[in-house]
Amino acid sequence: MTDNEILSLLCEAEREGAALMQEAHDILAERKTDRRDVVTEYDRRVQELLIRRLSEAVPDARFFCEENDRHDDLHAEHVFIIDPIDGTMNFVHGLHHSCISAAYMRRGELRAAAIRNPYVNELFTAVKGAGAFLNGRPIRVTDAPLSETLVCCGTTPYDPKLADRCFGLMKKAFLAGLDVRREGAAALDLCTAAAGRAGVFFELGLSLWDYAAGKLIVEEAGGICRTLEGGALPLDPTRPSVVAGGRQAVEELLRLAKEK
Ligand code: IPD
Ligand code: CA
Repeated sequence: MTDNEILSLLCEAEREGAALMQEAHDILAERKTDRRDVVTEYDRRVQELLIRRLSEAVPDARFFCEENDRHDDLHAEHVFIIDPIDGTMNFVHGLHHSCISAAYMRRGELRAAAIRNPYVNELFTAVKGAGAFLNGRPIRVTDAPLSETLVCCGTTPYDPKLADRCFGLMKKAFLAGLDVRREGAAALDLCTAAAGRAGVFFELGLSLWDYAAGKLIVEEAGGICRTLEGGALPLDPTRPSVVAGGRQAVEELLRLAKEK
C-alpha cells in the first residue's frame, strides 16, 4: 500500500470513529491512574474500531495506542500510533474540542497522519514529503516572532509536580507573546501551530500517541518539533517535553525556557 492509500484508510476509519463520538450520550468517566486521568467507553470503542479497520486492510499491522496498554513494537514494518480520543477531559465535560489522532509509521519513520475534530468538521492530514492540509487545503506554520503570535500550551495534568515549571513558562510566554491558550487536546494544539493559528505549542511531557500524528503535520507544514532542551523530538515511549511550531517562535520559546 502507498502512503496515500494508508492516509485514505486513516481518514475513513476516523470518519466512522467521529460518528461514534458525536452520537455519545451519558458519558461516564472512569479513573485510570488518578482523578485527572480518565477514560470512557467511547475512547475504547473508537480505538477498537480503528484497530479493526486498519488490521483488515494491513493484516500484519502493529499498534501503539493509548487505551488497554496496546503497545506493540515500534520498529515493526507497519505501526499505527493511535489516540482514540485526545481531549478526553473536554469530551467528558461537554467541551466540544477533542479529536481522533492517528499516525502511520513504517520501520520507525512517520509516513502519514490524520487528526480529525468532528465538532468543527476539521481534518488535518499529512504524508511525508507531500505537505500538510486542512480539509484538503495546504497549511503552513507562521514565521512570525513570539511577540506577534499566540502561544498554545498544555498543563501536563497527569504530572502535577511539573506545575511550577509549566506555569512559570506559561507566564513568560504570555509576557513575550500575544496571549496564551490552553485548549485541552495536545493533538489539536499541534494542528493549531501547524496551521499558523498559534506561533508555537509546548507541553512538558506527552505520550507518543498525543504527538506522533501532530509532529508529522507540523513538520510537513514547514515547522519544527523539539524537546524543551532543544533536542530532536523522539518517537518513543519516554514522554518527552514537546515544543512545536514556526522556527522563530520555537527558538524564542526555547530561549525563554532556559532563562532563570
Ligand atoms: C491529554 C490532552 C491534554 C494534555 C495531556 C494529554 P488525553 O490527552 O492532550 O491536552 O494536556 O497531557 O494527556 O488524555 O485527553 O488523551
Ligand atoms: Ca491524548
